Amino acid sequence: MNGHPGGAAHTRRMLALGALAPGSRVLDMGAGAGETVALLRGSGYDGVGLDLAPRGANVRTGDFLRTGFPDGSFDGVISQCAFYLSGDVPGALAESRRILKTGGVLMLSDVFFEPPVPLLTRAGFSVLVCEDMTAQWRGYYLEAVWRGAADGCRVPRGKCGYHLLIGRKE
Ligand SMILES: C[S@@+](CC[C@H](N)C(=O)[O-])C[C@H]1O[C@@H](n2cnc3c(N)ncnc32)[C@H](O)[C@@H]1O
Repeated sequence: MNGHPGGAAHTRRMLALGALAPGSRVLDMGAGAGETVALLRGSGYDGVGLDLAPRGANVRTGDFLRTGFPDGSFDGVISQCAFYLSGDVPGALAESRRILKTGGVLMLSDVFFEPPVPLLTRAGFSVLVCEDMTAQWRGYYLEAVWRGAADGCRVPRGKCGYHLLIGRKE
């Protein structure tokens, strides 16, 4: 099961907003069980998944803060509900920017403790889309608690929100 609010429909929406050309090489940072990698491949992209603790065959083991990929190796980066959990959102943004080609697209949905647009701008992205999904994320999170599926999750404490962002590396 997807580990982010909105499931596969949300992923499809992010890809539509990212508007990458067919065949584009896209890295999923924090790919978990690999559902998004499968969706990428099924949608005509060259999808690659990376996770500290992969839970599926489509996903390689690795730290997205130090991916080891050469500069400019991807047309797109997607990440859902993972940068926040790494404990180093600026580091994850810097690494995603490094491995993107100039003009490459970051498709991000995550928890933020500060306004996300200035954060992405400081990291060197032009922000094309920013949507506040906080209300939907709260419902998703409460539902996970109710099912007993949130055990072991690192609970965000304090005032935070959940946003979908599309950024371009200029
Ligand atoms: C909430 S899960 C989301 C998984 C997937 N993106 C999804 O939407 O189903 C967060 C994932 O991020 C991974 N993760 C956290 N920090 C990471 C890091 N520094 N490098 C690679 N993966 C990381 C975790 O192992 C976990 O699988």
